[in-house]
Parts: sequence; C-alpha cells; structure tokens
Amino acid sequence: MTLPRPSPEAQRASGALVARIRDEILARDGWIGFDRFMDMALYTPGLGYYSGGAHKFGAAGDFVTAPELTPLFSQTLAAQVKQILTLSAPHIIEVGAGSGRLAADLLLELEAGACLPESYRILDLSGELQERQQSTLARTAPHLLERVAWIDRLPERFDGLVLANELLDALPVHLAVWGNEENPAQIFERGVSWIDEAFAWRDIPAQGRVFDRARQIAGECVLPVGYLSEISLAAADWTAAWASILGNGALLLIDYGFPRHEFYHPQRGCGTLMCHYRHHAHTEPFFLPGLQDITTHVDFTGVIEAGHDAGLELLGYTTQGAFLLNCGLTDILSRIPADDCERYLPHAHAAQKLISPTEMGELFKVMALGKGISAPLVGFTLGDRSASL
Ligand SMILES: C[S@@+](CC[C@H](N)C(=O)[O-])C[C@H]1O[C@@H](n2cnc3c(N)ncnc32)[C@H](O)[C@@H]1O
Repeated sequence: MTLPRPSPEAQRASGALVARIRDEILARDGWIGFDRFMDMALYTPGLGYYSGGAHKFGAAGDFVTAPELTPLFSQTLAAQVKQILTLSAPHIIEVGAGSGRLAADLLLELEAGACLPESYRILDLSGELQERQQSTLARTAPHLLERVAWIDRLPERFDGLVLANELLDALPVHLAVWGNEENPAQIFERGVSWIDEAFAWRDIPAQGRVFDRARQIAGECVLPVGYLSEISLAAADWTAAWASILGNGALLLIDYGFPRHEFYHPQRGCGTLMCHYRHHAHTEPFFLPGLQDITTHVDFTGVIEAGHDAGLELLGYTTQGAFLLNCGLTDILSRIPADDCERYLPHAHAAQKLISPTEMGELFKVMALGKGISAPLVGFTLGDRSASL
C-alpha cells in the first residue's frame, strides 16, 4: 500500500497512540476486542482520529460527507426537519456534528423559512471538533450562535428531533467469525493482540452479547464457514439510549448501510470495515492509528430492532436519493439560475452526487424512528423501503 506520508509530528502522535493501545492489550492478558481497538484509535483524547489534530473532513482531509459536499444537502433536509419540529417540539439535538457545517446550513435554511428551533444542541465526543463547530457557526451564522449549546451527555428527557449524519458508522464494532476449518460450527470473536512488536489478529470463542447477536444473525442469514463481519452493539445501545429519553419526537439517521439480509450477504464475507486516509480507501485498520478514519456500514435492521424493543416506531426508511428528492432537492437547486453556469454547475454536480445510485444516492439510507408522531413524513413519500428491513 503506497499512501501519502504523514508529517513527522503526526507520525509521533500515531506512535504514542500505538504505545497506548499496546499497553492496554498487555494489561488485558494480550487481547482486546476490535471494538476497544477502534474506540481507542478514534477517540483517545488528544490522540484518536476524531479527538486529535487530524484534519478529517473535506478536500484537505480524508473523506467528504454530504454536508461538506454542498449546502444543498442541509437546505433540503430542512423540509423534513421543519415537519418533525412542527409535529413534536421546536428543539434539535445533533449528535456527531463534525465540522458544524450541517448545523450552520440547516439553521440558516430554517431561519429563511421562519421556523428556527428554540434550541439547537450539539453532542459530540470530540473536544477538537466541538471547537471547530463553534468556529464554523461563529463564522457563517454568528447571529444564530446564541441558540446553539454544546452538551456532553443525553438530557433526562427530550421532545423534538435528534439528528445524526454519519454517526452510526463511526461507532466501535465487534468482529465475528462464523466457524473455521477445525470448528465449522463455533462462533469466534476477532480481536487484537501484540505480537513481534506489531498488532495482530487473534480469534477467541465468542461470548456474551457478541455470541448472542452472532448466533441470531446465523439463524437469519446464510453465512459460509469462515464468514467475517461486524456486529454493532454500540449502534443498538445508542438507539435504545435515545429511545429511553425521547418523549414526543423522532430520530433522523442518515448513513451508509443496508438491511440485515444485504449486510450479511453470503458474498460479503470480509465485512464492511473501511479506512479512509487522505481520500484513499483501504481495509487495514492497523495502519497509522489516529491518522485515519475507521468505519463500517450500518445494519439498519439492527437499529430498528433496538428501536422497537425500546418503544420507538419506524416512521420511514429509504435511500438518500429518494429522501432528498421527496424533500425538494430539485426545487432548492432551481433557486440558482441555470444560465449562471459558474454557480449552477458545481451545485448541480454535487446534487447529482447526492442522489445518483452509483454515488451516494443508493448506498446511503435515511431512517426515521419516533414516538407520538402519527402523520406520514415528507421525506418518505415515494420510495419507502421499510418492507426491506
Ligand atoms: C463521520 S463523522 C460525521 C460528522 C458530520 N455529521 C458530517 O456528516 O460531516 C462522525 C462524528 O461523530 C462524532 N461521534 C462519534 N461517536 C460519537 C458519540 N458516541 N457521541 C457523539 N458524537 C460521536 C465524531 O466526533 C464526529 O464528529
């Protein structure tokens, strides 16, 4: 793998994180679950990918998310946000707000439509990103900054909208292996050891919740012997935690992923784990810890199962492409005169990227879960795929 070289300072930070993870492995009898490795690689204060100095988003970073690509995304999303606020309460909590772009563009669009929420709270694990969010908002929507507050835990009760774009894919996952040559029926958990001065994979018999979930999946999907994939207990726990404090309102989740039967498809035998480093995508999570993103696709069936168990109702599930078209993306694009080529063409190109089935339109999904909301949601009017879950 030939990838751009990090600066000496970045290499030193990555080396310090490797030493921290190694020490944790040695302190835990030589093995940690991959969830712990991923958690430390992404969120160790000051050194993890999200909590350290890596640039992360945009052309100068490692990957581009929809709100970073174009303000059209957040402006279009505003139609769905507005409806949910009207049906519940005028409050928003955004979880995992990245650079703050979505918050700024969404608030400006809601202001233009005279439906600003009374409060907009941001919950993000990364102190570094919280600072970035504050400066994005101070730069682009300074007059709205007073409505925005940063919180460090879930409130005790919440009515309104909980919004998360590309959050679930960043939650640490366990790895499971369904059988090997000697023990085709045994389920293993794949974790990380330290051997010959380097991280190494090691499988141990799966136990507890990982075993229970892996066995459930084996009962629902056809998995060849040696099948490797991820199990996201964190996504289920995250959903259940919000469900437990939601009064009247909805969770609106946007992420790449599939229903379970597609996620655990027999041909996807190496899982969905991907790493992003300076716009190169690869599958080596041990490469430069702290300097690259580690991510997995979302098992949306797992999210709705957890939501149902915790009292949430499925309000809609569809592709990002269908959702944005339902919310009026083309009308928003048409605000820019088409004969103003210099302005129009880049936005038209970005809109195409958001909705094209070969780009983000099909792989990315939108799921709404809620309590006390009875009206059909505008974003799911055409092309709802709830039956596929
Ligand atoms: C892939 S980035 C997406 C950022 C942004 N939503 C966007 O679309 O550009 C994931 C974000 O989630 C945050 N995050 C990850 N786990 C979190 C958690 N458990 N609670 C709150 N924020 C979290 C990260 O710090 C980061 O801001």
